[in-house]
Amino acid sequence: MSPESATPPDTDRRHPTRRTVLATGAAVGSALTMAGLPQLTAGTAQAGEQAPAGEVTVTVNGSRHTLTVDNRTSLLDLLREHLQLTGTKKGCDAGACGACTVLVDGRRVNACLTLAVRLHGREVTTIEGVSRGEQLHPLQQAFIDQDAFQCGYCTPGQIMSGLGCLREGQATSADRISEAMSGNICRCGCYPKIVRAVEQAARHT
Ligand code: FES
Repeated sequence: MSPESATPPDTDRRHPTRRTVLATGAAVGSALTMAGLPQLTAGTAQAGEQAPAGEVTVTVNGSRHTLTVDNRTSLLDLLREHLQLTGTKKGCDAGACGACTVLVDGRRVNACLTLAVRLHGREVTTIEGVSRGEQLHPLQQAFIDQDAFQCGYCTPGQIMSGLGCLREGQATSADRISEAMSGNICRCGCYPKIVRAVEQAARHT
């Protein structure tokens, strides 16, 4: 058998070369195209070329805003960079941590995965819109009462997710709350206290 036709040893298949990774990526990309599925691609605007922009009117915490934004702008960047609402946190920026959770028309979304221009006419609620003036929402108070945070970075997303959980009627048991909020990561491991906070709020809302 010539060296070219020899079957690669198992160790090579378990540890693909850069060439096989690139080839696999190209194959997956063409498969997605054939299936009509969107692909996440890097921005393609060339230097000096105007990025495509769109106008969006969106209501955030009861205030209506009309903005012109790059079509690729996420809701997270719209909130943080355009409206200076920095309570919504950027963690992974890839839909994996839940730090950016907000409500759109009362439903939980990851703001980092939501295109701003798709939200024309929609209502967004962020952590800044949860309290009534100085009066905390019962869930915010419950996070304090239960000491349900350590560093606090994930807390706005946890509270917004907890609000969604309450609205969806999922706060019926500790297990169900844990499951419903499993997309919200806490690096400090405050999960038991977070669940207790949602349970406390469920008793008072
Ligand atoms: Fe959006 Fe992590 S920043 S899920």
